[in-house]
Amino acid sequence: MNLLPDALSRLKWCRESIRYGSKKCIFSANVFILNILYPCYNVNRHQSEKTYEVMNMYKPFGRILYGGDYNPNQWPKEVWEQDMAHFKDARINSATINVFSWAKIQPSEEEYSFGELDEIVQMLSKENYDIVLATSTGAMPAWMYKKYPEVGRVDYQGRRHKFGQRHNACPNSPVFQKYAKAMAEQLAKRYGSNPHVTCWHISNEYGGECYCENCEKAFRVWLKKKYSTIEAVNKAWNLEFWGHTVYDFDEIVLPNALGDGMENGTDTAFAGLSVDYRRFMSDSMLENFKMERDAVRPYVKDVPITTNLMGTYKFLDYFKWAKEMDIVSWDNYPSYNTPWSFTAMSHDLMRGLKDAPFMLMEQTPSQQNWQPYNSLKKPGQMRAQSLQTVAHGADTVQFFQLRRSVGGCEKFHGAVIGHVGHNNTRVFREVKQLGEELERLGTSILGSANKADVGIIFDWDNYWALEYTSGPTEDLTYVNQIHQYYQYFYNKNIGVNMIPVDADFSKYKIVVAPVLYMVKEGMKEALTEFVKNGGILITTFMSGLVNESDNVHLGGYPGPLRELAGIWVEEIDALAPEQTNTVIFSDGTKVTCDLLCDLMHLEGAECLASYEENFYAGMPAIARNQFGKGCTYYLGTNMNQEGIAKVLDLATQSAGVMPVIDEQTELEVTCRKTENCTYYFVFNFKEQVLALPECFADCMDLLTGETVHAGKKLKQYDAYLFAVTV
Ligand code: GLA
Ligand code: ZN
Repeated sequence: MNLLPDALSRLKWCRESIRYGSKKCIFSANVFILNILYPCYNVNRHQSEKTYEVMNMYKPFGRILYGGDYNPNQWPKEVWEQDMAHFKDARINSATINVFSWAKIQPSEEEYSFGELDEIVQMLSKENYDIVLATSTGAMPAWMYKKYPEVGRVDYQGRRHKFGQRHNACPNSPVFQKYAKAMAEQLAKRYGSNPHVTCWHISNEYGGECYCENCEKAFRVWLKKKYSTIEAVNKAWNLEFWGHTVYDFDEIVLPNALGDGMENGTDTAFAGLSVDYRRFMSDSMLENFKMERDAVRPYVKDVPITTNLMGTYKFLDYFKWAKEMDIVSWDNYPSYNTPWSFTAMSHDLMRGLKDAPFMLMEQTPSQQNWQPYNSLKKPGQMRAQSLQTVAHGADTVQFFQLRRSVGGCEKFHGAVIGHVGHNNTRVFREVKQLGEELERLGTSILGSANKADVGIIFDWDNYWALEYTSGPTEDLTYVNQIHQYYQYFYNKNIGVNMIPVDADFSKYKIVVAPVLYMVKEGMKEALTEFVKNGGILITTFMSGLVNESDNVHLGGYPGPLRELAGIWVEEIDALAPEQTNTVIFSDGTKVTCDLLCDLMHLEGAECLASYEENFYAGMPAIARNQFGKGCTYYLGTNMNQEGIAKVLDLATQSAGVMPVIDEQTELEVTCRKTENCTYYFVFNFKEQVLALPECFADCMDLLTGETVHAGKKLKQYDAYLFAVTV
C-alpha cells in the first residue's frame, strides 16, 4: 500500500533531527552531576504529587477559537500593529503565544525578563483575543546546556546531544524539571488572573526518546515499582532466552543500539523490555506535563490546560495522556497524498481520547516545509480541511502560524500573512472567508457530540509490540491496518469512535479490533461479555498472539480469542511484496489478498471464504462464529478493500448499523449532535463533481446563508453545513 501516513513521515523527521546532532559523546562530563543529582530523582519525579482534578471540558470556550501560533517577539513593533489590523480583518480572535520563548524570558539562570511578553499579552488582551499561553519549555535556553549538559538527550546511538533544535529535553533530568516547573509557575503567577488567557499550553509536541544515564536509572525505579522483584522481570521479558538472566535491577540497560535495540530501533532482541521502555518513556514525559500542569493549576482554576498531540504519533500513549489533560488538542499536517479518510480517522482518534470535543491547535493555511513535497493547498482546500476538523469534533481552528518566519528552517512554512507582508493574497482571502463563516456560525455547535455505533480499538501498547515483533513480515504497519477498516466505514458515512482497549464496549453494536496482537489481562473477558450480549466483534490475523509482556499465549493461536472466533490458526504464511493469493467467497466472488495468510481450522465457526492458491488452497481464510447472542468475524488475511467491504457489509447489515443519511453518496457526510439539533457537514473530497443528496434539498447552509436546491452539484472541496432540529 502506497500510503505514507503523516505520523510516520513526522516520526522520520523527528528521528532525522535527532540524528543530526552532536557526533561526540560527552558522557564523562555528566557522571559527577548524574551521581549527585540522582538521589533527588524520586523527589523531583513526584513534584507533581499534589494532583488536581482534571476538568471535564465539553465546552471550554465562549466562541470558536480562530487564530493560531503567533510570534510577535520575532518581529519589530511596527509589524505588531499591522498584524492586529490584518487579523481583525480575517476575524481572527485567538493567538497561541510564547511557544518557544524560554531563552527570551529567562536569559540566565537567575533572571526572568517578562517585559516583552507583558506587552504582547497586553496588546492581545486589548484586542479581546482568547490567548493560548504556552509555557515555552519545548526548547531549552543555551545557558542551560552549557551549565548542565545533562538536560540534553542521549540518542539511540548513545550520543549526548548539545544545544540545538527543540523538543529534546531529557525528561528525567532533575535540572530540566526544576527549571521547567519554575518557568510554568512564574508564567501562571503573572498571567493566570488575566481573563483573556483562556487556555494554557504546556511545552509543545512532546515526543522522542532519551537513553541517558538519568533515564536508565529512572527506568530501573519504574521497573521496580512495576515488577517488585528481579525474578518477575526475568519472567516477564523471558530473559532466559539468549542467556540474558539478570540478578539485580542495576544490570538492566536501556534498549538502544548499545544494548538490546536492533535495526536502528525498529527491532529489538526483547520486545518485552522495549515495550516497557516505551511505556516508561511515555510516562516520563507525561510526568513532565503533569509537573507543569500542576504548577500552573493553582493560578488558573477554571481554565483548560492542554498540550498539542500529533494524531497517530507512535511514541506516546495518548489514551493515558488524555486522562491528565483538560482538553485534547492536536496538530494536523496531512501530506499532499494523505487520504481524507486518514485525516478523518486521526480526528476521530483525537476526539476518542477523551470522548469529547477537541482543539485543532495547528494546521497550515497553505503548505508545510518539512515534508518531502510541500504542495500548496488548492483553493477551497484549507476551508474544507478546517471544516472537516470541526465536523469530527473540533471546537477551534488554529493555524501554524499567523506570520511567516523570516529565517530558520520553517521560513517556507505557510502562514496567514506571508513574506510579502500585506494581506492581498489568496491565502489571506481564504483565511478571511473562513473567519467570517465561523463568526456567522456562532456558538451553537460548541460542545456538540459525534455519536457512533462502531468502535475501532486503537492501543499504543499493541502498536509498539506489533511493530517490534521480528517476523513473520516486516511490512505490517499498525496504523495502516487500522486505517483500512476505518476507511470502509468512512466511505459509507458510518460514524466511528476510536476507542481504547478498556472502553465500555457495550456502547457499540460493532467493535473492530484489527491486528489485536497483544491481548492484555481482562480483555478476553470484556470481549467475550460484549459478544455474548449480542455485540459483533471483527478481528483479524495477527490477533490474540501475546500477553502484555510480549510472551505468546500458548495453546494455539489466536490464544484468548480462539473460542470467541471459533477457529484455530495452525501456521501463518508471509507473502513477499511480489506475491499474492486469492480469496474466494461462497458466492463465487474472488478478491486478492497479500501480506499474511493464516492457515486456520474451523472450531465451530463457519467458513465465509477460502484461499484459492498455494498449498493451503481450500483452507478457510475468513470465518464467522456465532457466540451467545452475537458473533465474531475473523479475517485471516489482508484482503483488498473490496474483500474487507464484503465482510463488513455482512456485519453492518446484521447489526443494523446505519450511515448518517440513507442515501448513498461519495460525499463525506459527518454529524455532530446537541440535545435538540443534528448538524450535517457535507464535503466533496473527490475530484469529480457530485450531486448533493436529496435529503438536503432546500436546506440553508449555516456557513454562507445560501439555501441549496435539489440536485445541486458540488465541486471538489465544496463544503456545507446544515442543521436539522429534532
Ligand atoms: C509543529 C510545531 C510547530 C511548527 C509546525 C510546523 O506542529 O508544533 O512549532 O514547527 O510543526 O509544521
Ligand atoms: Zn534522559
